[in-house]
Amino acid sequence: MLKKLLGLTLPNCKDPEGREVDLSQIRPELVPQHVAIIMDGNGRWARAQGKPRTFGHAAGARTLRRIVKFADKLGIKALSVYAFSTENWKRPITEVHFIMDLLVEYLTKELEEFNQYNVRIRFMGAREGLPDAVLEKMDHALEVTRDNTGIILNIAINYGGQRELVGAMKEIATLVKEGQLQPEDINEKTIEEHLYTRGMPAPDLLIRTGGDLRVSNFMLWQIAYSEFWTTPVFWPDFSEELLAEAVLSYEKRDRRFGGLNQK
Ligand code: FPP
Repeated sequence: MLKKLLGLTLPNCKDPEGREVDLSQIRPELVPQHVAIIMDGNGRWARAQGKPRTFGHAAGARTLRRIVKFADKLGIKALSVYAFSTENWKRPITEVHFIMDLLVEYLTKELEEFNQYNVRIRFMGAREGLPDAVLEKMDHALEVTRDNTGIILNIAINYGGQRELVGAMKEIATLVKEGQLQPEDINEKTIEEHLYTRGMPAPDLLIRTGGDLRVSNFMLWQIAYSEFWTTPVFWPDFSEELLAEAVLSYEKRDRRFGGLNQK
């Protein structure tokens, strides 16, 4: 049984419609290596309880801690999570400040535990515009966990997929201008080498919580062939059971990458 394998005590596992999710069906050899998550619904979760939106972000941060550990136990090698987008600056200044403070707090308080847990923390996004306090914590977390060999937690902060591609194009154009690269030699690999995710495989599975069905400028290049799984559940309520259900759903998919079924 997976529950035993993982040394976890999971309650009877039910999906949002109340159907039983049989964890024992998860096949370790088919578990997605890289999972990307759009953690949406913090604000609505808080509002539903008559609380300020920021209450939802704090709860969302706690959910992330649980999910990183469970993802590692499932055998997932990398988790990319959308914490703050290039568009999120448009939110009320008090909410933006709250999220920045939360990031500083998170990267301070959680760091020791993540480090003990062998988690390697990475980031993706533009440094420009981020407060110094956030940048310092990011650099410190990166440094402290650099040699860890467990799950990679890749946190998107001030991230936009279009901005990432613009940055890659600029770097590539500079190489061409300097004569270090010929235009005819540019291919998919060239682009990948200039993305924040260089060195990481593309996400196999993209999860979005909170019920909306869009990609919101997240990892636009990298999700070209990712399998998509969504749930109406708001991020603070996202659970180990739901991650297991997403993985199980992924394992049943027929990934053809534009080709034909090999089976
Ligand atoms: C989406 O909820 C979440 C965000 C915009 C970002 C904040 C994410 C967290 C705080 C999760 C924890 C992450 C870290 C690294 C501390 P929303 O505000 O868009 O919710 P809504 O769709 O209900 O308005």
